[in-house]
Amino acid sequence: MKSVLEKVNQLISSTRTPSSSSVGICRGIKAGHLGVWAKLRNDQSELYRVILSCEGETKTGKKLSDQFSYTFAPALGGRFFQSIEMPRTFKEFLVGKNPAISGKVSFEFIGSEGKTTSVMELRPVLRCYRLKGKSVPSGLPENPCWLSVDSAEMAALKESELKAYSDKVKAQLEEKRKQEEAERKAKEEAAKKAAEEAAKAAAAKAAAASAKPAATAAAAGVAIDRSQPTLQAGRVLVVYGSSTGNTKNVAESIKSEMGEAVDHVKNITEIHPADLANFEKVIVGVPTWHIGEIQEDWGAVLPEIEALNFAGKKVAVFGLGDGKGYPETYVDAMAELVEKFEKKGAKLVGMWPTDGYDFKKSKAVRDGKFLGLVIDVENQDHLSDKRVKAWVAQLQKEFLG
Ligand SMILES: Cc1cc2nc3c(=O)[nH]c(=O)nc-3n(C[C@H](O)[C@H](O)[C@H](O)COP(=O)(O)O)c2cc1C
Repeated sequence: MKSVLEKVNQLISSTRTPSSSSVGICRGIKAGHLGVWAKLRNDQSELYRVILSCEGETKTGKKLSDQFSYTFAPALGGRFFQSIEMPRTFKEFLVGKNPAISGKVSFEFIGSEGKTTSVMELRPVLRCYRLKGKSVPSGLPENPCWLSVDSAEMAALKESELKAYSDKVKAQLEEKRKQEEAERKAKEEAAKKAAEEAAKAAAAKAAAASAKPAATAAAAGVAIDRSQPTLQAGRVLVVYGSSTGNTKNVAESIKSEMGEAVDHVKNITEIHPADLANFEKVIVGVPTWHIGEIQEDWGAVLPEIEALNFAGKKVAVFGLGDGKGYPETYVDAMAELVEKFEKKGAKLVGMWPTDGYDFKKSKAVRDGKFLGLVIDVENQDHLSDKRVKAWVAQLQKEFLG
């Protein structure tokens, strides 16, 4: 008897397309993911394999092609939807520095019933990747099926070993989940303890000063005191929020241009808002998402920024956006962030000309200039390095002034 995997492997070369089954590509549950779905009839597989292949050509005529395969087990009743984070090379194919401008993405779904293929043009796939394209057909909630990027280890398995392998991986995942849960609890406990101690110390200080019991003791038990900085005070801090990594990359390029002058490059999720006010100069990076919205991690800390004081501090902003995809809300989030800093006394530096950018409307334009550096990796990535270099040179002067 053939192992399920052997059967699946054999079917990879099969050309039979079961007429009663359908498969497709749709948007995933978050940006950077693609959704793959299947509605299968009479399929008894214990194991399904998904192969995503891309083939295309860039603006410069370079040919691109890549292939990824995943194994799923078990998919419930042949009704299947999984949101898959795209591997780095696939992201580069779609939205990287030299992305494909024409091409196709094919999705093969292989089970014991046969091979079912769906081919999509690049544009609609890109829309799905950006959470705008086709949504999953109704009645296909995400299946809690186990997924692995295919490995040589898996391909070499015999039927007798397959279940053991699957159980082993499931047990490993469960172990990892338990470990993460324990670590999370330990962290929460430690933060709670630190907050209690800080509140006790504050209460003791206030009691000593006024010889009255301090009301702040009531604050004991608050999970994390985010008004306490996590970083040592310094001169220049670069902070960014980034959902798919583009703003992070620009933050790192700014750091390599500025060298030692930068003390830290941090994701806003890694620090406390209080850190922002603990530096003489802060460079903040923010992408715009969901039609004019500030990136979610920045959105979460905006109320806390309102409570800080930036008098005497300088702030510079860089923003990422897509001028062709979102011409009416181009880099709008920069304005929302700058407004918060300026309201609390920060001086804005690093304003940047709008020449050479392709967009219709932006809240981030003041007196004919952008509030800071704008980087558009989707449409003008060939200019990114040059723009970063020139902006850093300008900033270094304005930081001194
Ligand atoms: C669903 C979605 C909505 C977006 N909305 C806007 C927008 O309103 N304005 C804009 O300029 N860019 C918009 N963008 C483009 C992003 O800002 C751009 O891809 C940016 O490089 C993402 O940066 P990050 O990878 O650091 O998150 C949007 C992108 C997606 C996928």
